[in-house]
Amino acid sequence: MAPKRVTVVGSGNWGMAIATIIATNTERHPEFEKDLTVWMFDEEIEHKGVKRKLSVHFNETKENVKYLPGVTLPRHVIAEPDIKKAVGNADILIWVLPHQFVPKTIENMGPVKEGAVSVSLIKGGLELEGGKLGLCSDLLRKLLKHEVAVLMGANVANEVAAGQFCEATLGCKSAEHQGTLCKLFDCLSFRVNAVDDIPGVELCGALKNVVALGAGFCDGLDYGGNTKAALIRIGLQEMKIFIRHFYPDAKDSTFLESCGVADLITTCFGGRNRKCAEAFVRSRGSKSWDQIEKDLLGGQKLQGTLTAQEIWPVMKAHGLCQKLPLFTTIYEIAFNGKAPWGIVKLPQGMPASA
Ligand code: NAD
Ligand code: 13P
Repeated sequence: MAPKRVTVVGSGNWGMAIATIIATNTERHPEFEKDLTVWMFDEEIEHKGVKRKLSVHFNETKENVKYLPGVTLPRHVIAEPDIKKAVGNADILIWVLPHQFVPKTIENMGPVKEGAVSVSLIKGGLELEGGKLGLCSDLLRKLLKHEVAVLMGANVANEVAAGQFCEATLGCKSAEHQGTLCKLFDCLSFRVNAVDDIPGVELCGALKNVVALGAGFCDGLDYGGNTKAALIRIGLQEMKIFIRHFYPDAKDSTFLESCGVADLITTCFGGRNRKCAEAFVRSRGSKSWDQIEKDLLGGQKLQGTLTAQEIWPVMKAHGLCQKLPLFTTIYEIAFNGKAPWGIVKLPQGMPASA
């Protein structure tokens, strides 16, 4: 069988970091073609006084100076700014875009190969569709008309790119694809465990970004570890209630995978959502989320604020607000002017069952 060609669609902080892992595996496993294509949304950058396209700079230096500065990727990682060329020949598509850019990107790309498969690493992108909750992987499945798996986990990109040990969870239904996809991601520093609970894995990845805003509010108020741990516990419980409401078959074990409790912990301590939420509180209402994102993230994108806005109408339509006091409070602090200390004034007695 011909070796499978792989394309990473997205070249932000996580897109570049995961490309370092995948490129190691395409080199050592003969079932993959060694060269790894990365679709790069192109932009002009200025680096050391020289202005040029990010993709041109990357292909010459193998460093993405804007989204993963200081890391040199292997020579066989190739940036392709033309989306049609980047995806047209791929057997495996790895989706790593901020979720707001997915529909337009798919609109701009041409056909994909028959029999191709996708994996979404995107944390976010939830909406109501005919009263049912739609996931980003559902959208990809609908538009691409092929199988879509998901990969989520406690994976702060800069740490992964530095080769620090971590784990991730692959959500995949097909046994045939599970083996190939594990091989594409798994290595000594990035251990992958496969499960068949796609909605559970994907929703953990999206919802933990909302909880991380709460953790950031807590840091902005100078509360300590006990308070943050309480918010993490309540957040995990509310994630479970939300997920079980829409997907009663989501498994308990999923919440104990890297995509569940582990990602929640790392994001609440070391993520961008946490960082920006802390700044939001410290700015005392003087800065908008857009301004904070711009000031602190250098072009990288927040997902938790968008996800909080996406789930709010879903929660209201399904009568979930009372059952999810932490999610409700986080939304109200972030978007309705509620005082940040409301985060520690949650009603006593959380819903017992999830
Ligand atoms: P990022 O926030 O670092 O970068 C933003 C990306 O968006 C850049 O690649 C930029 O070129 C691109 N972009 C800007 N405008 C665009 C447009 N109009 N169309 C298409 N692309 C455009 O991105 P990221 O951190 O790689 O995040 C991608 C996904 O990965 C998110 O869902 C995020 O939650 C998830 N994720 C991130 C991390 C992390 O540590 N960074 C870890 C795990 C998962
Ligand atoms: P942030 O987007 O908050 O940085 O979270 C990164 C992440 O998903 C770590 O697993």
